[in-house]
Amino acid sequence: MNILVIGSGGREHALVWKLHQSPSVKKIFCAPGNAGIEQYAELVQLKPTDIKGLIKFASEKNIDLTVVGSEQPLVEGLVDAFEEKGLKIFGPSKAAAQLEGSKVFSKDFMARHNIPTAKYRNFSADEYDIIKKYIDTINPPMVLKADGLAAGKGVLICNDRQEALAALDEIVLQKAFGTAGQKIVVEEFLTGEEASIFVLSDGERFALLSSAQDHKRILDGDMGKNTGGMGAYSPAPVVTEKILQQVVQQVVIPTLNGMKQEGAPYRGCLYVGLMITAGGIKVLEYNCRFGDPETQVVVPLIDCDLAEIFLSIAERRLDPVKVKLHKAAAVCVVMASQGYPDKYQTGKQIFGLENNKMEDGIVVFHAGTRNDAGKIVTSGGRVLGVTAIGFNDELEQTIRNAYSAVGKISFDGAYYRSDIGKKALKHLCAGRENK
Ligand code: AMP
Ligand code: GLY
Repeated sequence: MNILVIGSGGREHALVWKLHQSPSVKKIFCAPGNAGIEQYAELVQLKPTDIKGLIKFASEKNIDLTVVGSEQPLVEGLVDAFEEKGLKIFGPSKAAAQLEGSKVFSKDFMARHNIPTAKYRNFSADEYDIIKKYIDTINPPMVLKADGLAAGKGVLICNDRQEALAALDEIVLQKAFGTAGQKIVVEEFLTGEEASIFVLSDGERFALLSSAQDHKRILDGDMGKNTGGMGAYSPAPVVTEKILQQVVQQVVIPTLNGMKQEGAPYRGCLYVGLMITAGGIKVLEYNCRFGDPETQVVVPLIDCDLAEIFLSIAERRLDPVKVKLHKAAAVCVVMASQGYPDKYQTGKQIFGLENNKMEDGIVVFHAGTRNDAGKIVTSGGRVLGVTAIGFNDELEQTIRNAYSAVGKISFDGAYYRSDIGKKALKHLCAGRENK
């Protein structure tokens, strides 16, 4: 198979790395890719949202399967456009991608299908005065969400009425999220622990990948600003077998059945973001693609030919039994540029990449990197996802391995959290004590 992967982050590096191991894969192209992806794929200078350009490329190069990494092209209908031309592609249609593309759609969808989620009300931005009155009726904290895609920034957690009114002004009056803020969700604040579940589906059948937990805040102890994700581990011990069964029965099956019933069968990877609360599981959000950095820990735990699985989904013939997982743990520590998620410098040379090897259970996934005349330099906020895979080790040792690998890499201003995985250890310790 000739494969085209669309995207340029750590998630796409992890996908390309795994697809490269598939016996069925002959050649991989990646648009636009990065300096790490270049080891396995020919880079193509096309933007992920250049639908026409990507279709032309896939047709000319006889691409057998295209795999889409990020949400924007999915929400814009890239999959529909490929399929209209008879090109095989892994990812949801525009209608199915609404689960991520519109929070108003996803909340109403969950209500229609009885899927547990935070209590909410949807509004249109021209109902400013009505929203204001509604805010007064709610006991803070509360959450305001811009409806559309906002690069992970459209969710505003408000601790009191003042903050909620400021958030409302930000979305409606200042139009901080542009057209994404034309509709708004106001919802109940949930407390608990977050975890993500990844589901592969061809619209009819499904298979689960392993669960994961992201670390969204920039500082240790989940403090400071929100980021794209500073590290992850998989599986997430908070997702016990019992919780997983609840997720399947209360969320996965009703979601896939519901989308099918509504004429938008879900094909691709469905990311279910959960809050595990004292009152049970609740869906925080759906994403219509793999997570970043969760992919960097979920994909290394897949123990089968991923290209074949993706192709079977594109051809609507997934055999869930063929999706096999390693009984192992993986931990990814993100190395970022000093200053991220605010301003940061780029162009810093990265040293020591050659010091980490797969034989030692380490893979360094590139996110914001560029090849500058043979030197690998930083080109983004999140630079590397250093992943340790513990085939024989416990999570605790896998965390140590990840940090030891991080210690072998350096660049000017490198920043990383030092507590990735700590939350998981807390659960494991509690589990052992209860035995
Ligand atoms: P979302 O894009 O909807 O997942 O929101 C991004 C992040 O905001 C989530 O991962 C949570 O950390 C937080 N969040 C979203 N909705 C809620 C909620 N109802 N209660 C508490 N935290 C939330
Ligand atoms: N890590 C969060 C996301 O991919 O949306």
